[in-house]
Amino acid sequence: MKFGYFDDSNKEYVITTPQTPYPWINYLGSENFFSLVSHTAGGYSFYKDARFRRITRYRYNNTPLDSGGRYFYINDQGDCWTPGWLPMKQELAKYECRHGLGYSRIYGERNGVGAEVLFLVPLHADCEIQRVKLINTTDAQKDITLFSCVEFCLWNALDDMTNFQRNFSTGEVEIEGSTIYHKTEYRERRNHYAFYHVNADVAGYDTDRESFIGVYNGFDTPQVVLRGESTNSQAMGWSPIGSHSLAVSLEPGETKEYIFVLGYIEMPEQEKWQAPGVINKQRASAVIEQFKDAESVNTALSALQERWNDLLSRYSVQTGDEKLNRMVNIWNQYQCMVTFNLSRSASYFESGIGRGIGFRDSNQDILGFVHQVPDRARERILDLAATQFEDGSAYHQYQPLTKKGNSDIGGNFNDDPLWLILSTTAYIKETGDVGILDEIVSFDNNPDKKASLFQHLKASFYHVVNNLGPHGLPLIGRADWNDCLNLNCFSKVPDESFQTTTSKDGKVAESVLIAGMFVFIGSEFVQLCEYLGLNEEAEAARRHRDSMQETVLKYGYDGNWFLRAYDDAGDKVGSRENAEGKIFIETQGFCVMAGIGLETGEAQKALDSVKEHLDTPHGIVLLQPAYTRYYENLGEISTYPPGFKENAGIFCHNNPWIMIAETQLGRGERAFEYYAKIAPAYTEEISEIHKMEPYVYAQMIAGKDTPKHGEAKNSWLTGTAAWNFIAISQWILGIKPGYTGLVVDPCIPSAWDDFAVQRSYRGTTYQITVKNPQHVSKGIKDVIVDGKSIDGNVLPAFDDGQEHRVEVILGK
Ligand code: GLC
Ligand code: GLC
Repeated sequence: MKFGYFDDSNKEYVITTPQTPYPWINYLGSENFFSLVSHTAGGYSFYKDARFRRITRYRYNNTPLDSGGRYFYINDQGDCWTPGWLPMKQELAKYECRHGLGYSRIYGERNGVGAEVLFLVPLHADCEIQRVKLINTTDAQKDITLFSCVEFCLWNALDDMTNFQRNFSTGEVEIEGSTIYHKTEYRERRNHYAFYHVNADVAGYDTDRESFIGVYNGFDTPQVVLRGESTNSQAMGWSPIGSHSLAVSLEPGETKEYIFVLGYIEMPEQEKWQAPGVINKQRASAVIEQFKDAESVNTALSALQERWNDLLSRYSVQTGDEKLNRMVNIWNQYQCMVTFNLSRSASYFESGIGRGIGFRDSNQDILGFVHQVPDRARERILDLAATQFEDGSAYHQYQPLTKKGNSDIGGNFNDDPLWLILSTTAYIKETGDVGILDEIVSFDNNPDKKASLFQHLKASFYHVVNNLGPHGLPLIGRADWNDCLNLNCFSKVPDESFQTTTSKDGKVAESVLIAGMFVFIGSEFVQLCEYLGLNEEAEAARRHRDSMQETVLKYGYDGNWFLRAYDDAGDKVGSRENAEGKIFIETQGFCVMAGIGLETGEAQKALDSVKEHLDTPHGIVLLQPAYTRYYENLGEISTYPPGFKENAGIFCHNNPWIMIAETQLGRGERAFEYYAKIAPAYTEEISEIHKMEPYVYAQMIAGKDTPKHGEAKNSWLTGTAAWNFIAISQWILGIKPGYTGLVVDPCIPSAWDDFAVQRSYRGTTYQITVKNPQHVSKGIKDVIVDGKSIDGNVLPAFDDGQEHRVEVILGK
């Protein structure tokens, strides 16, 4: 069942009923000010850091779900309703929510009044704009009262939800004209405040939540709205809110527009006050002035749309499959950017409190957006590298506000270092900017200890080499990519963290995944050294990589598939010898991606085993058979009921590893079949089962061991976005940056006749048409650039700012 449809020409998903199976959200903002907005106007805003600069309050895991947001209420002669349906849930004659790229538009209509609210965070501005259009669709005059409402958070989102003995006594606001200023803690160490403004005279306002809502009411029955009149309350302690009321009179057919601005301001210490106790409002006034009328909002919206058109124009495909087109051209790339901006911090499943910027997560995210905003990738790479230690290991996370490694979590996730090599080489291949390797970067953010980025990469590579276990495979540390496979934890104590509690000395448990990664990513390091002319470095690295490859075939293969690991007792994990968890997905993906066993048959067998044991109609599960009890020696993975998360859920992040692996074998049908199984546009029709937004990937879909099979969770912020984009754009459609040019090597279903890709690369636009007259999956017969056949399949990096036509003929 569908709950809306794709409007591709406007790059929007249109939700046609508010009663979706779960709140379907969108993200506003891409620089400093961010908002999450659901299709019923729920959600919240923050500045840079969802934990330390939370602007509006949100209650996770609340009932009803998704209550709290930025709400507009209409009192139409005693009939009260909300255009987003929530929170009042009054029946609407019309409802629609359009989630677009960086903006959302919600329309609700009742009793002849239409209310359209456009939400957006303009480029280069630290505010959220809410443009409310009220339309009288009747032929009689309408006199209504419009109320706004946002609930301020007292900045630190964790403290805000826990420290009530203090917080109920700190709240402070100022009110001036149509602007409400939230200044809690501004008197002490905070140099920032928020404001909520409307560009019209107000009939009244409220800033104290209990006065507005009533102690025993909810957002669905605010007493002020029901009564139709603000109380002009002044918050002192308790919970400050921002609410305006506007008396609106609409002639028949008339439309009126109001611009609300929710802004965030930082002030230099010396300029904080304009009079004792009175905040300096200069900067806020400038923002208010900038967005004072409809025209300025239209300009901001157009600028945002232009920005997105530009970002998306760098890779686009035309095929006969509209679902594929919309995934590649719009939504997958959009999700990649959002995921880059937020890492894993703030979604409807990530509270914005728990996690900062993940080392492995962000390095992988870079793969998905580096072609869109290479400068920001560069900056992120350097920030990440600065949280590395001299031995190559790295902090697992850092806090975006300070950019310092998070010592609560620490390091020793032994896959982490390798991802830095992958993101950096992807960046260099995209841009040609080898200069980044000479950047001097600190270790552990300590300016006294520093080295070039190249030395950081080398440290990453040798961190694996220097931490090998009894079989010569990499030691796993706290965990590798699979955070829940905790081979050194052995936890028996409730509430202990599986990842940071380590009870074993870690000198035995080994990861075949890190081994596969080392061969794949190590080859990238070798290639980089070769490209730089560092032949000895390349040769030394090549030897380590080759020897790892042998070790994997010797100790990491189990007859029909790759093993997953050795545990602390030296026993196999992911082996036919195990009663449960006999086969895992990750090593089949990475080892085959790395080319291990391609020539000798192990690779094909491994992927055939994936098909046989792990594939389902909803995607490929992580392992089989699922663990049915807790295994102390394996940790968190066996804490989830069978079919959820890492315990045999469909982890959409590593499905693309199998897609890519299939392309290594030249099996285009199968690669694409796996792609289409989990790509959201293809699962739109089963939204009632899948539940999450049909326009973005979710981290996990419940596996076949649970009756919830097919139900997704944890949408938006997941490495799934980047890897699926890589799988489809670089390996299936086969257009992939190399050091000297764009490599073309598609691997597609043989039935496809042709497709076209437009790719901007180092300032040049390539119009590539791929033709498949012999109906093969893979293999290139001819590449014609600007009318001339070239040798090989690398399109030169022309660096000429021109457009070049390329024709690729597949065949034998
Ligand atoms: C989550 C984490 C990621 C990890 C994955 C598998 O998505 O963000 O770092 O690799 O789970 O456990
Ligand atoms: C849990 C999740 C895993 C995630 C980790 C992050 O272990 O199952 O997916 O990576 O938390 O801390």
